[in-house]
Amino acid sequence: MVIGIDIGSTTTKSVAIYPDKSFKSLTTKAIDPITSATGALGKMLMENQLQISSIRSIVLTGAGAPGIKGNLFGVETHKIDELEAVGLGGMYLSGESGVIITNIGTGTALVEAHPGLIKHIGGTGVGGGTILGLAKAMFKTSEIQAVFDLAEQGKIGEVDLLIGDIVDDDLSFLKREMTAANFGKMPDNARNEDIAMGILTMVYQVIGTVSAFAARSRNISRVVVTGTASDGSIAKRILDAIGNIFEITFIYPHDAAYATALGAALSKV
Ligand SMILES: Nc1ncnc2c1ncn2[C@@H]1O[C@H](COP(=O)(O)OP(=O)(O)OP(=O)(O)O)[C@@H](O)[C@H]1O
Ligand SMILES: [Mg+2]
Repeated sequence: MVIGIDIGSTTTKSVAIYPDKSFKSLTTKAIDPITSATGALGKMLMENQLQISSIRSIVLTGAGAPGIKGNLFGVETHKIDELEAVGLGGMYLSGESGVIITNIGTGTALVEAHPGLIKHIGGTGVGGGTILGLAKAMFKTSEIQAVFDLAEQGKIGEVDLLIGDIVDDDLSFLKREMTAANFGKMPDNARNEDIAMGILTMVYQVIGTVSAFAARSRNISRVVVTGTASDGSIAKRILDAIGNIFEITFIYPHDAAYATALGAALSKV
């Protein structure tokens, strides 16, 4: 069995890959790298009644990986570049190659992934951490689910200046309901529900647009979306609206939060 541990800036994701390539997964909070790695490993063993002797190798990746030196409880450890792991895991989960993979974590990283060729092509500091940070400032909450719940009741046209607010018809390929300026119409008495929707719209529109531009500049039409912050129906709806504009298909694989950890483990399977 091979364990992959992705020590991210916000959460630690780990997977245990069995010889038949089935896998177990779990998420823990990212604390310091050693606590994150040992905690994730311990929890994985306990929850799945695994023996440490059954683990052949542990592969570490993510921002915290350099903080782990040497073996973990006598099991040899390896490290893999985080972007390489994103590429391997994203291709594996989606079954696709020749794609852009957009990993939405605390920040957002983009890779171009082909079999045998994974290239980091950039990203944006706008990501899941942006949602949590703005939510803390605006709503005094650190719960991502609270933001999604608020946004479900929100109306984007209350805070965003829409194309339809400034012209009578569609503008070029932009439909009337698309955003012309995020928060460009912010009223004095905006409801939290509308602000929450405005935050999610801004974040996922930026990510969608960066991804679409990256894909189009490489003659690629499919973008695989991974990372913990890629989950949720609102995120998918906003990304798909951007995809429609630029004729890009966003693909949302199952277990997307574990793409990086899986990619790490797969590098040694
Ligand atoms: N239960 C949760 N706990 C924390 N964040 C969550 C949770 N569910 C969704 N999120 C969102 O996911 C984001 C973190 O995503 P992820 O775990 O992929 O990032 P990371 O790997 O820690 O960071 P990075 O890859 O940028 O170093 C948070 O910023 C938040 O928006
Ligand atoms: Mg990450």
